[in-house]
Amino acid sequence: MQLKNTQGRFGIVAMSLHWLMFVLIAGMLALGLYMTSLPDGEPKWEWYSIHKSFGLLIFVLLLIRILWRMYDMVPPLPDGLKAIERFLAHLTHYGVYLALIILPFSGYVDSSAGDYHLAFFDFFDIPKLIPKNKALEDISVIAHQAVAYSLIALLVMHIAGALKHHLVLEDDVLRRMLPFKLRKNVTTYPPLRQHHRQEPTEYR
Ligand code: HEM
Ligand code: HEM
Repeated sequence: MQLKNTQGRFGIVAMSLHWLMFVLIAGMLALGLYMTSLPDGEPKWEWYSIHKSFGLLIFVLLLIRILWRMYDMVPPLPDGLKAIERFLAHLTHYGVYLALIILPFSGYVDSSAGDYHLAFFDFFDIPKLIPKNKALEDISVIAHQAVAYSLIALLVMHIAGALKHHLVLEDDVLRRMLPFKLRKNVTTYPPLRQHHRQEPTEYR
């Protein structure tokens, strides 16, 4: 498999970033919902610190991904899609990128304007550039939450789209984002009834 994308396939770099970020973002959404439901106390703040560190890691990966996307070509969608399907695919992709920019940004503003602990794991503290400001803190918490829920909706659309391409349209869109081979089409085997009809002549 190649490092760079080709006309018909994503390369190792784009694919690795996609699936690594899938695991991290799915974890972050689950962790965000879980940690905010905990009662105030040390375990909750521990989870908050982990959430912030991974959020910043995702932000760095996102920057690498956007730079790589600008440098590399993006495999075009298959011909024959309806204009609305093309539009929805692009809307979902750009929507996901936008949400992934706003989430770390609003998370950072929340932590800085609230003057909370902000560090990258135990490695180093992150400078808080925004002075304490309760109104700004409240707005950024609401924005973070609203964008997190919008991201969940976008991802439901994204995954439904990928499955529609594979199962209904039966094109290569899902397959070209996967590092392993998926069987192209189950109906390449003769259908069962036809199989039965091919009995040896001596039984006829
Ligand atoms: C891809 C990145 C991120 C995702 C998917 C994400 C997701 C979430 C979710 C789902 C919640 C729970 C929302 C709720 O129901 O209240 C949450 C809360 C929170 N997130 Fe993030 N987050 C991300 C990045 C960050 C970053 C980078 C920071 C900080 C630097 C951060 C700080 C927080 C804080 C402080 C809360 C709790 C807000 C509150 O007190 O209600 N997040 N996040
Ligand atoms: C957290 C979860 C996910 C995120 C954030 C995400 C994000 C993205 C983004 C931003 C793109 C656009 C790539 C580009 O043009 O730069 C993309 C492409 C793609 N994703 Fe995901 N994705 C996620 C989960 C999934 C899952 C679970 C599947 C499979 C069921 C999937 C299948 C695909 C496929 C097939 C493409 C290529 C679409 C094309 O060829 O245009 N993604 N993803």
